[in-house]
Amino acid sequence: PAPQSLTGRHILVTAGPTHEPIDPVRFLGNRSSGKQGFAIAEALVALGARVTLVAGPVSLPTPAGVSRIDVQTAREMAAAAEGALPADAAVMVAAVADWRVEPAAGKIKKGAGAPPALALVENPDILATIGHAARRPRLVVGFAAETDTVVENARAKLARKGADWIVANDVSGDVMGGETNAIHIVTAAGVDSWPQLPKAAVATRLAERIAAALSGESLA
Ligand code: C5P
Repeated sequence: PAPQSLTGRHILVTAGPTHEPIDPVRFLGNRSSGKQGFAIAEALVALGARVTLVAGPVSLPTPAGVSRIDVQTAREMAAAAEGALPADAAVMVAAVADWRVEPAAGKIKKGAGAPPALALVENPDILATIGHAARRPRLVVGFAAETDTVVENARAKLARKGADWIVANDVSGDVMGGETNAIHIVTAAGVDSWPQLPKAAVATRLAERIAAALSGESLA
């Protein structure tokens, strides 16, 4: 396709939080509205891509033309993401819970002595799994929500997670659930910092950059 088009490309997007059950009524989870990931899925479709969106529990409508797979837990998200391969690119926007617990079969009662202790088990890192997969997409993009040393932390994640780009945003302000985002795209070649933009504008610019990268020689 032309450098500004994604026609014929298949792109995997993860979005939203994951919920890790503690018992039938409680869960562990991250704060995430899913807005940025859903906007990215929509922008990729607008450029002609076939998009598989693996979504955690969010209350957002499915953008037109997007194939959506709903999941609850990190392990379900990992299975759905790996099952969506092969893909030309993967954009991992989900705020995955880093830990889960072995859920209780019944509701844990309060007031029956000491509060329960939660034994945390580490969840799979979905981005790192996709970034190191045998069927690795040619372009793997991760996100990083940071509150300090944003760019340095993102650079460390590039190698660790096998990503080509880390889109880092400073969440010390009012990003969560908000309508705008200020991001830095960290690649092996350097850092590209964008001004604060509506999430839809971030999505459009990112989709254009993905289209250019997939049609060119260099992913940086
Ligand atoms: O390590 P950190 O959670 O900051 O990394 C964020 C990036 O890694 C995001 O792209 C997120 O979607 C991805 N991630 C993942 N699976 C995890 C944790 C993070 O895919 N278990």
